[in-house]
Amino acid sequence: MNKSLLIIALVLGSSELNAQEFNQEIETRQKLFTEIEEKSDWVEDELEEDAPNWQDIENVSETLIKNTQQLETLFVTGSHENSRAKVSIWENHQEFKAALNDMLIGFESLHYASKLQKLTAAESGLEQAQDTCNGCHRRYRSLW
Ligand code: HEC
Repeated sequence: MNKSLLIIALVLGSSELNAQEFNQEIETRQKLFTEIEEKSDWVEDELEEDAPNWQDIENVSETLIKNTQQLETLFVTGSHENSRAKVSIWENHQEFKAALNDMLIGFESLHYASKLQKLTAAESGLEQAQDTCNGCHRRYRSLW
């Protein structure tokens, strides 16, 4: 193999390695987001029941908090490839983290309100979290 071919082979090989390096992070964050969507939809329906199951809502909102906290650790620099995460996440990282944190605060309010079985407070906590989804997707999630 001549020298330039060797270099090309090395470069190609290493970019493939890099992409694979983050497969785990990408898969996990997509799984966590999917679960967040399903579980917040479930809470939304449950809060509309005549007698919401507060114990279940409390447990589910704990999972919503944990998922969001875990997401905070999974947007590793360079992990946009083969994912729907846009590079702008790392160009505006403080703002991106602030948006994740707004979602977290919403789920924390929901959790707190569910312990006290306060319907209006629970609804507004959930709403605060759900208000963050679209804005963040518009800015930081690619369409495919
Ligand atoms: C701080 C920004 C941010 C917030 C807030 C946010 N998302 Fe996302 N979401 C993303 C990004 C970025 C991706 C793409 C992740 C990837 O592909 O690695 C994503 C992906 C997803 C996915 C797709 C998972 C897949 O399989 O591709 C779902 C579903 C989702 N989000 C739901 C939600 C819901 C529901 C909310 C609000 C309750 C929400 N997200 C809030 C940034 C956000």
